[in-house]
Amino acid sequence: MSIDRREFLRTSAAAAAGLSLTSVAAPGTAEGAAVGEPAPLKASLARPVVIASDNGLRGVAKAYEMIGKGSDPLDAIVAGVNIQELDPEDQSVGLGGLPNEEGVVQLDASCMHGPTRRAGAVASLEGIATPSLVAKAVMDYTDHILLVGPGAKKFALNMGFKEQNLLTEKSRQDWLRWKARLNANDNWLDHDDDIKIKFSTGTINMNAVTATGDVASVTTTSGLAWKLPGRVGDSPIVGAGQYCDNSVGAAGSTGRGEANIKVCGAFLAVEFMRQGMAPEQALMKVMERVIAMTEKRLLNDRGRPYFDLHFYALAKDGRYSSATAYQGGQFAVASDKGARLEDSVYLFKSEERPARR
Ligand code: GLY
Repeated sequence: MSIDRREFLRTSAAAAAGLSLTSVAAPGTAEGAAVGEPAPLKASLARPVVIASDNGLRGVAKAYEMIGKGSDPLDAIVAGVNIQELDPEDQSVGLGGLPNEEGVVQLDASCMHGPTRRAGAVASLEGIATPSLVAKAVMDYTDHILLVGPGAKKFALNMGFKEQNLLTEKSRQDWLRWKARLNANDNWLDHDDDIKIKFSTGTINMNAVTATGDVASVTTTSGLAWKLPGRVGDSPIVGAGQYCDNSVGAAGSTGRGEANIKVCGAFLAVEFMRQGMAPEQALMKVMERVIAMTEKRLLNDRGRPYFDLHFYALAKDGRYSSATAYQGGQFAVASDKGARLEDSVYLFKSEERPARR
């Protein structure tokens, strides 16, 4: 991404000096008034901006268009991620997501609305293809933030969501292949030897800032493929899978949730931006923290992680970035330059990536 050089130097210098550039938004305002701190960054960069994981290219275009027509930023990005949730070909999200070890699709999602400082989330939700909308309903209609399992499903049905079978034939076949390979001595026959067992921690995260500087964030996933029933990743954890603060910006993640939960990565990224770091710097610091907090069994002898984790950050002034441990990651962006994929920054060259264990 292009970062205004003067702004980059200013924020880098401030971060290096350990200065706080914190500003506090006045309730109900977009730009917010600084309280006893330097003024918020001027809107010198293009806004609106919408960013997402690389599977969100269609979604960022949709959200950007909606924001341009005056939509609320959270409504816009939820509509953006709904495209993937309802796409049976995306096996990391919603309908067609890879199931748990028992062949049951369990979905997680959370969202935050910057202007009103509200959040909602659901975890281990079964039978409803759009957990992002259920998370938003929790936010809009209840005094709670997180509903799980049968309670989340009951709530969704009461709110008028329709139950459906989320396990597509393609995902069921993948599950059967995984199951057959688990134990050579069980009663399941092996399928085709060449077939690669899919393994996914795919997810979609999307973040937006409007022309007037209001921010929102959402993350939705079917979670880790073949997980233990009831396993919940980072996506529905506010502060881990996504987070936003209307006076600073938004952030989120995709990839191995267990690695992110321990550092509250989305919250940490927003806090680093609050301290004055540019999104790119903030995310690199978060990636470093993830690795510092990773148990030895998940690192090779050079300290390189065996897993993938991807972070995304969008500052209130329109700057944005994405970071991953290894070279080669991309993310989706929509701005006045259109919708496109851009390269993520990274800690390690791709040749340093160890073979998955
Ligand atoms: N980041 C998605 C998950 O770990 O469930």
